[in-house]
Amino acid sequence: MPKAHKWVYQFTEGSAKMRDLLGGKGAGAAEMTRAGMPVPPGFTITTEACRAYYASGGKFPKGLWEQVLAGLKVLERKAGKKLGDPIDPLLVSVRSGAKFSMPGMMDTVLNLGLNEDTAKGLALLTKDERFALDARRRFIQMFGKTVKGIDGEKFEHALQEAKKKAGVKTDPELRPDHLRPLVAQFLAIYKEETRREFPSDPVEQLREAIDAVFKSWNTDRAKTYRRMERIPDDLGTAVNVQMMVFGNMGETSGTGVTFTRNPITGTKELYGDYLANAQGEDVVAGVRDTEPISALRRHMPKVYAQFERYARQLEKHYKDVQDLEFTIERGKLFMLQTRASSPRRRRSLASSRASWSSCCSRVSTRRPKCRPLLEASLRHPAPLPEARSSTRTPRWSGASRARR
Ligand SMILES: Nc1ncnc2c1ncn2[C@@H]1O[C@H](COP(=O)(O)OP(=O)(O)OP(=O)(O)O)[C@@H](O)[C@H]1O
Ligand SMILES: [Mg+2]
Repeated sequence: MPKAHKWVYQFTEGSAKMRDLLGGKGAGAAEMTRAGMPVPPGFTITTEACRAYYASGGKFPKGLWEQVLAGLKVLERKAGKKLGDPIDPLLVSVRSGAKFSMPGMMDTVLNLGLNEDTAKGLALLTKDERFALDARRRFIQMFGKTVKGIDGEKFEHALQEAKKKAGVKTDPELRPDHLRPLVAQFLAIYKEETRREFPSDPVEQLREAIDAVFKSWNTDRAKTYRRMERIPDDLGTAVNVQMMVFGNMGETSGTGVTFTRNPITGTKELYGDYLANAQGEDVVAGVRDTEPISALRRHMPKVYAQFERYARQLEKHYKDVQDLEFTIERGKLFMLQTRASSPRRRRSLASSRASWSSCCSRVSTRRPKCRPLLEASLRHPAPLPEARSSTRTPRWSGASRARR
């Protein structure tokens, strides 16, 4: 019997050379895994599968779903957790990632696997009901928006109202008593908008999220971006399914996005944003001001040193400045993305050194206040299509997002 076509690769099976097939994000995750760096385990559905999906008018190609389920089994073994397990649930992210970077133009769903039972399990396991409820409301919000196309404003409005009622200013201040009714409200919004119950089966959630990521290759936003960047329309996106790690599990957790060099001066120093006790999306969402990456050196010097070592290693390996995403879960570092910061982006930064210094001289405090705003304009000198809107409107109109 001929061997079935291979649509799914574990990160341990891929490498940087397989960028065409695995996309930049998948190939990067595989290469970091091969180098022994702490990457949450996962697998990549190939760009070829996406092309086959479109060729058949939006259907998963033969054998894909079976391979996803088999890939999930391997992932569960590596993670030591199972999707949908009410005692110790595995949660995953489902991430887009084409051969060429299209920052923020396609979709990603985080915290997938949560339902009534797994959220309870997560609360017991982490002894943190607030964390579990917050993760669940984020998931409903992201799934509703990304997979079902529900207007994000509907969730955002409910969240703002909940904060007003609770008399608090920021999301982390919402306590379980506030979050429980908010989750119920989010589920009601979902039902009202889709005329269906929110899918409680994590495997069904996974199938829908993969389908949505494939579809996000062909949104108007993505198509416009490709036209401007001269990226061919027929490449398709890969889909990465990866174990979630949590930067929002207290003060020894956090998340950040960082260049391996100062992109303006070229100095070999980490340059980017860090946010303690937050999930990746928060860096761009404008929930709180980010800190410069040096804050991590103060908070957790050992983790910073480890991250700096990986950053140097990756830059040397790829022979190019890298743009990195990472998350720290209770003191443990995880590498989530590496990509070359494109010469175009670097050129535009260098040519705008003047605006950088004039911006900084107007701001008496440290850089972060002006940096994101500045970088947004530097990185994308020409107008680009609106990046995928985050869970809320970014405070600095797509600044950190532009970095990604
Ligand atoms: N498994 C995971 N655990 C924790 N955080 C994650 C995980 N997967 C993704 N993230 C974070 O979620 C955010 C969004 O993910 P992702 O990198 O897929 O999309 P993006 O950064 O918005 O766009 P781009 O396609 O340009 O990378 C990022 O901050 C990323 O680091
Ligand atoms: Mg990213």
